[in-house]
Amino acid sequence: MAEMEKLAKIMAGTLFPGYVIGLSGELGSGKTTFTKYLAKHMGINANVNSPTFTLLKIYKGGLPLYHMDAYRLEASGAGYELEEFIYSDGVCVIEWCEFAEDILPENFLKMDIEVTGENTRKIFLEGSGPYAGIVEEVGNRYRNQIRICVPC
Ligand SMILES: Nc1ncnc2c1ncn2[C@@H]1O[C@H](COP(=O)(O)OP(=O)(O)O)[C@@H](O)[C@H]1O
Ligand SMILES: [Mg+2]
Repeated sequence: MAEMEKLAKIMAGTLFPGYVIGLSGELGSGKTTFTKYLAKHMGINANVNSPTFTLLKIYKGGLPLYHMDAYRLEASGAGYELEEFIYSDGVCVIEWCEFAEDILPENFLKMDIEVTGENTRKIFLEGSGPYAGIVEEVGNRYRNQIRICVPC
């Protein structure tokens, strides 16, 4: 858990306007938990909780945070007018990003959380374009401490 916050803190240090993080992983894997920590390290004081029933929650910070949950989206996310928040000058975090395939940008940071035990998680990071270097840097610097796995 402490390591999850550490990862979120590191990722918060890599953010830029238009940054998109796609989270996947089973229910209870820690997608919302990660987002809470990310928000904390973006300087957002609000209580970040699951946007499952609202699709989108917006938090004001240095960069705005758009927190989405795509689980209930039908037909891969088209038709909900979420694109303006994904292609924006803020930071967009999409839980269950596999259900938003049609509206995801060409490049984004994909983070898959695998449950390996009650309190342990394995993280897979993947990213192309501007995210490739970030994935590599996070992987190289913190692989041992936070057991990040960066697939090639
Ligand atoms: N290492 C960990 N990282 C993230 N969450 C963890 C970890 N260990 C235990 N947990 C617990 O797992 C649960 C994850 O729930 P949540 O973040 O809502 O998952 P999701 O959004 O993926 O459904 C929380 O109750 C959290 O306290
Ligand atoms: Mg969640």
